[in-house]
Amino acid sequence: MEHHSALRHISFLLLLPLLASMHYGQANPGPRLIHSIFSFGDSYADTGNFVKLAAPVFPVIPFSNLPYGETFFGRPTGRASNGRIIMDFIADEFGLPFVPPILGEETNFTHGANFAVVGATALDLAYFHEKNITSVPPFNSSLSVQLDWFQNLKPTLCSTPQGCRDYFRGSLFFMGEIGGNDYTFIMASGKTFGLVYVRDVVQAISDGVEQLVKEGGRNVVVPGQPPMGCIPIVLTLYASPNKTHYDRRGCLIKYNALARYHNRLLVAAVYRLRIKYPEAKIVYGDYYTPVIEFLNEPTRYGFSASSGLQVCCGAGGPYNYDMTVACGFPGASACTNPDTHINWDGIHLTESAYRLIATGWLLGPLRTSAPILEAMSGSQDLKTSSIL
Ligand SMILES: *[C@@H]1O[C@H](CO)[C@@H](O)[C@H](O)[C@H]1NC(C)=O
Ligand SMILES: *[C@@H]1O[C@H](CO)[C@@H](O)[C@H](O)[C@H]1NC(C)=O
Ligand SMILES: *[C@@H]1O[C@H](CO)[C@@H](O)[C@H](O)[C@H]1NC(C)=O
Ligand SMILES: *[C@@H]1O[C@H](CO)[C@@H](O)[C@H](O)[C@H]1NC(C)=O
Repeated sequence: MEHHSALRHISFLLLLPLLASMHYGQANPGPRLIHSIFSFGDSYADTGNFVKLAAPVFPVIPFSNLPYGETFFGRPTGRASNGRIIMDFIADEFGLPFVPPILGEETNFTHGANFAVVGATALDLAYFHEKNITSVPPFNSSLSVQLDWFQNLKPTLCSTPQGCRDYFRGSLFFMGEIGGNDYTFIMASGKTFGLVYVRDVVQAISDGVEQLVKEGGRNVVVPGQPPMGCIPIVLTLYASPNKTHYDRRGCLIKYNALARYHNRLLVAAVYRLRIKYPEAKIVYGDYYTPVIEFLNEPTRYGFSASSGLQVCCGAGGPYNYDMTVACGFPGASACTNPDTHINWDGIHLTESAYRLIATGWLLGPLRTSAPILEAMSGSQDLKTSSIL
């Protein structure tokens, strides 16, 4: 390839899409440039922590039941999807095993660990308590707690401060998705919140990234929010009789605007961190645009024309979503072909949607552009959705 001579001059993470494309779909993994993946977040990233925490507490945990996991694993794994999630596809691309949940059966975290927990917030529980917000996650699993778990794990991975920095240099970190629950909990409380709240959420995420960079992290992906106003649970809880509150896709304009505002602040925070830590490749993962694209042109991405905002696994209602008969509970059932649906359970996406987003992050926005070539020509547009 004519670009080879330039390879050693470009920064490490810029290589990832190229390597990914070289090895994409091959049985043999590429060179192991990344030896481990560490992930923080909520139900979009959890691979089994919540179900472990919840097992002694809740009589029924939907994610512990089929049809969760039916498409890929053939059993529920604690992932809030019918199969793999974004991080699984990315781990696979680097020839790494699926990132084990820190609270699961796996005890060897040499290749990374997942600290994400369903329901987790970016802000601490104390933040909500101070504001008298009582609808908070059932577990103390906020981002700073997940970072504490990471600190506790560290001595098993490396021993000296320099040794640890060297180790984490070869790690890929996922800081999110997180923050979505901060909004849903405050919305559920019925309290109004100002834009300062969004700033606090984004600051918590930014602080988390900074902590990882100080530990030696050099490759950090910071996913933003999906279009909240297109999520069936939000559409159900905040349905409006006023047609002007919906966009042409049927999404609630107000909540999409909130997600976009969060994302705008997050992109700015990532930009500031990149300036402060030029040695680190900190990139924003665009969760918003892909989902909007799927809704705009479902058949182009392999989804059925009618799937749109329809939930695959649910029961009744305008979106096939009923909170009282949610996926994983008796009475709810999955559609026959989840691959043709965007939304799995009213909140989370199907494996096929996650696969497309992962591929977009790795190879370029929905594989429609040539991100590696753009990167080589010097453009470092932060708003790119790829891991560039
Ligand atoms: C953990 O896994 C790594 C890589 O798979 C292996 O080299 C190492 O020996 C394992 N450690 C333990 C304590 O089993
Ligand atoms: C929270 O509730 C307590 C007791 O009901 C009240 O004294 C306090 O002012 C409230 N704080 C806020 C921030 O609303
Ligand atoms: C959550 O856990 C952290 C330790 O990780 C602790 O400092 C904090 O007080 C706990 N918060 C609550 C509300 O239990
Ligand atoms: C519908 O919402 C728009 C925008 O918020 C508002 O201007 C309009 O008055 C509302 N219409 C009704 C019938 O409430």
